[in-house]
Amino acid sequence: MPERTPLIAGNWKMYKTQGEARALAREIRQGVPAGVRAEVMVAPPYTALAAVAGELEGSPIRLAGQDTFWEKQGAYTGAISPVMLADLGCHYVIVGHSERRQHFGDTNQTVNRKLLAVLEAGVVPILCIGETLEERQAEKTLHVVAEQLKEGLAGLPGDARERPVIAYEPVWAIGTGLTATPQQAQEVHAFIRSLLRELLHEAAETTLILYGGSVTPDNAASLLSEPDIDGALVGGASLKADSFLKIIAAAG
Ligand code: PGA
Repeated sequence: MPERTPLIAGNWKMYKTQGEARALAREIRQGVPAGVRAEVMVAPPYTALAAVAGELEGSPIRLAGQDTFWEKQGAYTGAISPVMLADLGCHYVIVGHSERRQHFGDTNQTVNRKLLAVLEAGVVPILCIGETLEERQAEKTLHVVAEQLKEGLAGLPGDARERPVIAYEPVWAIGTGLTATPQQAQEVHAFIRSLLRELLHEAAETTLILYGGSVTPDNAASLLSEPDIDGALVGGASLKADSFLKIIAAAG
């Protein structure tokens, strides 16, 4: 089986002023043990990206944007482009987070435009997909996930320098304290990997598939021990250095 370096990603959502973000970044930087196996990433709000970039300079911890618009520049008041995020030192940009889909009208089509624009800027997109509770109860999980994945990755250039990361985040598990069991998550991750084999061929074996949704220090190790779970996208538990560092340690 190909070696996939796990990625532990912290999504700070709409939390942290510049000062708070700097302090958290410093604590994480100081707490990540040397030689840790996982790659570590944090996604502060846009307003704290520069402050956190300064704090992480010279460290292997990666910076990410939480979202983006797809145009490079233009008269789009309030929007931020992938080029601007790359300029701030972002290595990753999250696209299609369920909160963007739910509150800001993102669709599979707009998420796809964002993903392609992120790749064009030389940045790695993290494509979030996942079903709602109603969809799971109606046994539509695999159908919804397949559609989000295929439409989200449509038009992916075969020669793209960067490969997208996929994050499976069941909507009913985000911020609710309800976590998919490792078996429930693995079932969907294996299904995603099989679809990626059709879409990306051998690149599917090295594509990271993260799990997200109420990941905590208590459940991280068992989730991460599943064969197709290659890391975690962590919201609430990434807002405190202590719990985030424990999740990083759980990645081995
Ligand atoms: P949570 O958020 O860990 O607070 O459930 C995960 C996410 O939204 O990425």
